[in-house]
Amino acid sequence: MIQDKAAQNNPERIGCGQVSLDLVGKKITLAGWVHRRRDHGGVIFIDLRDRSGLVQVVFNPQEAPDIFRVAERLRSEYVIKVIGEVRRRPEGSANPNLVTGEVEVYADQLEVLNPAKTPPFEIADYREVDEALRLKYRYLDLRRPEMQSKIIARHRITKAVRDYLDKQGFLEIETPVLTRSTPEGARDYLVPSRVHQGSFYALPQSPQLFKQILMVSGFEKYFQIVKCFRDEDLRADRQPEFTQIDIEMSFVEPEDVQRLAEGMLAYAYKEVFGKDLPVPFPRMTWAEAMDRYGTDRPDLRFGLELINFTDLVKDSQFKVFAKVAQAGGEVKGINAKGGSVLSRRELDGLTEFVGEFGAKGLAWMVIGENEIKSPITKFFTAEELDSILERAQAEPGDLLLFVADEPQVVAASLGNLRLKLAGRLGLISETSEDRYVWITDFPMFEYSEEEGRYVALHHPFTSPKEEDLKLLGSDLSAVKAKAYDLVLNGLELGGGSIRIHRPEVQQQVFEALKVSPEEAADKFGFLLDGLSYGAPPHGGIAFGLDRLVMLWTGSESIREVIAFPKTQSAMDLMVKAPAPVEKKQLDELGIELADFRE
Ligand code: AMO
Ligand code: AMP
Repeated sequence: MIQDKAAQNNPERIGCGQVSLDLVGKKITLAGWVHRRRDHGGVIFIDLRDRSGLVQVVFNPQEAPDIFRVAERLRSEYVIKVIGEVRRRPEGSANPNLVTGEVEVYADQLEVLNPAKTPPFEIADYREVDEALRLKYRYLDLRRPEMQSKIIARHRITKAVRDYLDKQGFLEIETPVLTRSTPEGARDYLVPSRVHQGSFYALPQSPQLFKQILMVSGFEKYFQIVKCFRDEDLRADRQPEFTQIDIEMSFVEPEDVQRLAEGMLAYAYKEVFGKDLPVPFPRMTWAEAMDRYGTDRPDLRFGLELINFTDLVKDSQFKVFAKVAQAGGEVKGINAKGGSVLSRRELDGLTEFVGEFGAKGLAWMVIGENEIKSPITKFFTAEELDSILERAQAEPGDLLLFVADEPQVVAASLGNLRLKLAGRLGLISETSEDRYVWITDFPMFEYSEEEGRYVALHHPFTSPKEEDLKLLGSDLSAVKAKAYDLVLNGLELGGGSIRIHRPEVQQQVFEALKVSPEEAADKFGFLLDGLSYGAPPHGGIAFGLDRLVMLWTGSESIREVIAFPKTQSAMDLMVKAPAPVEKKQLDELGIELADFRE
């Protein structure tokens, strides 16, 4: 144990990962966790770990017999403090895999600050562990160097974003968490009011309305790194609470917002990873993305683009295709290069797969050296077949896959099939270059079968393109919005738009959405009022910070880059939330639970 006197004269504490050759001969203090312990011919080696990394500590019975006996009792994850001398490792025993691999610390004082129970999974020799266990013991999971580096990367990305926006003259302004519902399209989380029983706050799905109001107030350039809450079905890239880099600017056009966003991302990427981003990113209209990739968030790391065959098969004898083509539908396909390796069973599997997206079938042609295997070639004339093969640029070894249906079904089934094939054919690898693309010119509205009316594709504060304003009363499906999304490797990283700044246009859009004047006044009266007191033209964007960090750190899910995430079923397994509350608490809120328990 460390003597009191010695403790008072502790040499400087150095981070485990920072012990270097420069310190050879110096006495230092280390503090951290026992990562590994090895006994070698009467000498004990400890890999000591803290946030900065690992260093080898040596306990030699000849040099320090007292503490050697204590060192013998050390176990994984004990918290210890060591004082010792930094030495160069003997010839031939350097560890090139460790930053501190050329040195070791000869301990002459050791203090056990806290012992530890045996952890439920290994920190040092981590293998796949059930995620539920990791989340329950998140404090241990977060000790793993891999997790530490992700959380550190997140901090550095966030800091770089803040620094950049600050330098560009943006103000970080907080907006309320207890607020009222904003229509971002998901379900709200509600918080009951004790003071106003029967009334509820909603947690913000985004600060959309507040940031617009801040523009009306003249702040001109706003940002916030802010928690947003959405009660929706969760996936690898979705959490019920997540963080946005939220931005709004006055007197701007889409290009201004896009340029700012590109500058911000390029700055952060360079700061954190030391590499350049290829800005400006390419732009693609929504219509082109849907046509070529069947989705508004195309993954451009591989080809397999959708090919339109509608004109070629319209008058063919293959009734399935001809009928769809004549009825205004589409016949499109994919040339899965090298896909002839797929078995019949796999083809049946793909047919089932596209069925999930509404396709009624999946026609195929396997292109051989001298023949084409397919259930449908017999329906085509030689010329028709030639023209199909030519348009598909088919070569031996290829597999052509076709779907005939209404455009939405064709897009959804082939868009998803494209991703599935890329996985099966190994077209995406860790070395694939990141591909960013702006998607522009979104439709303003989309028809919701469920609601029997048009709904806003982004949100109802998005500005229609000026030239389309005249269509608001007539053809909603043709109205394009001044909206843009940034897509990275097939994932939506961020989205934004230029907003409506004139109250009469906002009224018109509400009318188109069948929001009555009373409802508009009730829910968004403050915004409509605000717009009428001299609102500047404005627009902005929000990035999913979790998604950005996930993609930049090569993580599989946003849960990997959030310190305390929730499960797919929206639970926090460590603190056990959500949880029942005392009856007294409910009474104070004037809430009575329906009898939902079995
Ligand atoms: P939007 O709804 O597109 O836009 O959200 C912006 C970005 O936030 C991320 N995101 C999510 N990340 C994790 N989990 C979720 N559940 C989740 N939902 C969204 C995505 C998305 O691109 N107010 C507008 C922005 C604006 O118009 O300025 C908005 O919230 O990366
Ligand atoms: P059938 O003549 O119905 O047996 O279909 C012949 C082939 O066309 C099968 O491989 C079906 O999967 C495929 N098929 C049927 N309907 C469609 C469709 N709407 N789009 C694409 N392929 C289809």
